Amino acid sequence: MRGLLCAALVGLLDRCLCLQTPTASTTTKGVQLVTESAAIDNGPNGKYGQSAFAELWANISYTSSPPFTTIRNPGTMSGKELIFPPALYTSSEKSNLKLPATFIWGVSGSAWQIEGGLQVDGRGPSIMDTVGAIQSNDNQSDANIADMGYFLYREDIARLAAIGIPYYSFSISWTRVVPFGIAGSPINTKGLEHYDDVINTCLEYGITPLVTLNHFDFPLSQMDDLQTLPEHFLYYAKQVMTRYADRIPFWFTFNEPNVGVEYLFNGWNDLTSIMAAHAEVYHWYKTQLKGTGQISMKFANNLAVPLDISNATHIQAALRYQDFILGIMGNPLFLGQQIPADALATANLNLTALTKGQISRFHGTMDFWAFDPYVAQFASPAPEGIANCAANPSSSAWPYCVITSNIQADGWAMGDMSNAYAAIAPQYVRQQLSYVWETFKPSGILIAEFGFNPIADHRRPVDAQRQDLERTLYYQGFLSEMLKSIHLDGVNVIGTLAWSYVDNNEWGSYENQYGMQTVNRTDGKFGRRFKRSIFDYVDFFHQHIAGG
Ligand SMILES: *[C@@H]1O[C@H](CO)[C@@H](O)[C@H](O)[C@H]1NC(C)=O
Ligand SMILES: *[C@@H]1O[C@H](CO)[C@@H](O)[C@H](O)[C@H]1NC(C)=O
Ligand SMILES: *[C@@H]1O[C@H](CO)[C@@H](O)[C@H](O)[C@H]1NC(C)=O
Ligand SMILES: *[C@@H]1O[C@H](CO)[C@@H](O)[C@H](O)[C@H]1NC(C)=O
Ligand SMILES: *[C@@H]1O[C@H](CO)[C@@H](O)[C@H](O)[C@H]1NC(C)=O
Repeated sequence: MRGLLCAALVGLLDRCLCLQTPTASTTTKGVQLVTESAAIDNGPNGKYGQSAFAELWANISYTSSPPFTTIRNPGTMSGKELIFPPALYTSSEKSNLKLPATFIWGVSGSAWQIEGGLQVDGRGPSIMDTVGAIQSNDNQSDANIADMGYFLYREDIARLAAIGIPYYSFSISWTRVVPFGIAGSPINTKGLEHYDDVINTCLEYGITPLVTLNHFDFPLSQMDDLQTLPEHFLYYAKQVMTRYADRIPFWFTFNEPNVGVEYLFNGWNDLTSIMAAHAEVYHWYKTQLKGTGQISMKFANNLAVPLDISNATHIQAALRYQDFILGIMGNPLFLGQQIPADALATANLNLTALTKGQISRFHGTMDFWAFDPYVAQFASPAPEGIANCAANPSSSAWPYCVITSNIQADGWAMGDMSNAYAAIAPQYVRQQLSYVWETFKPSGILIAEFGFNPIADHRRPVDAQRQDLERTLYYQGFLSEMLKSIHLDGVNVIGTLAWSYVDNNEWGSYENQYGMQTVNRTDGKFGRRFKRSIFDYVDFFHQHIAGG
């Protein structure tokens, strides 16, 4: 399974070091593990004692250690930091369309990509710790360091407040709260206290926090068998939601499991376990805890549009792609319907149809739609044809059996391209939003991530990185088309969260820079600096929020 993960990621990432040969074990001393029940044997050599905790980490080691050991408090920010960049002459096409005052707009990040300090304060290992966390050439850029967010969050929140960001979406590390990851195992009070302070710091600064319970960093102990996920996830979610429900109005249970299935999971039926885990948490939160917040799950989706709109097989390819990427989970969760037939019929996918009981348990557990529509892509059928491919698991295009591309039929790229897959192609935003609105009929759509990572950005001088005109054009085009989607197409878009508020660890690589701030990883201080795009992003909402 980890081998699979590595094979899948190795094409995408620069560094991918998987299973290490066992080295000297790493112990974390002075960790406060508390047990919920006296029945748990938690002596030093007990089932959940210090030896067992050290064993969790036995096969993972780091060449670098976090340069910070304490939380840094925000200093006084120089007024120079907030000087507006030169005006853009390209922003002349102004729209008078407005957004409601209730519009949720802000920025996002995730625990593993930003925090660092993977072994600090009793955190247990996660599946992501086996990727890009082990070694780096400069000892400054692995996941054990990342952006040192674990120590610098107060400064980060103060900076977001200073520039006027009203909503901040972050994720909680499951294994900081439940180091062993599993139901009945000890709760780490230091983990809970950390996120308590993150949330309270947001509120002190007038920022509303949104929380993702799991952003790919599943406990390592869970990954061999996700069948039992619902029990373990509910145990963890109860700790977190009981403690923070009074301060969190929006929750996301999982991040993008619909792409995680290809990289992280053991099989496609694990998506059913994800839905079951989500539904258990949803029902518990609403009926037992009587929580008043709203709950959803984030889906990845770069909408597939037919490469040749006049060709029926291209239309079929696009629909099949969408059935896989959104239909498998969207059908039961939003519509109370079975998984799409074309996915169920794919040979060797082993995807089992849901029972009526499962569908009724899952249906209606998403209070709104949350997705990450970075860009669109063109779809055409696999060269051997969709039906032949779907019957042949050794086909290179199996199981989607669709070829996707950012290049139009006439040979042009759909828009200005990024370092990875995103492009400045706002001409597809209305289609993306309308597809979801009309297919799954959600009450509202939250764009939970969108962003742009310029080509070879990390090699440019920092002053050039900060003048990130491409990122600004990406956001302005996207948001302008979103306004049309709301006003001309009648789609209820309730908010946007930009990915990301700072450059971070893009799953083992720092070369895909999506941030609206730089991080200095060479001077030992990890200071952030604003890029122009964050000014322009804030400015867009000042211009368009009614009464704003
Ligand atoms: C560490 O590796 C050894 C040898 O491969 C294996 O027996 C053991 O189960 C591994 N421990 C963990 C916690 O994965
Ligand atoms: C990284 O850390 C290792 C182990 O401490 C050390 O030997 C090496 O010189 C460091 N490399 C750099 C570039 O600082
Ligand atoms: C439709 O697309 C398929 C696959 O790309 C191609 O083989 C076929 O010739 C196309 N048909 C027409 C009428 O263009
Ligand atoms: C489906 O099941 C078969 C038989 O157990 C197995 O060989 C195959 O790897 C499975 N397919 C997937 C995608 O897990
Ligand atoms: C990091 O800080 C040093 C010292 O202030 C500076 O020379 C360097 O340009 C900075 N690099 C980045 C990427 O900000």
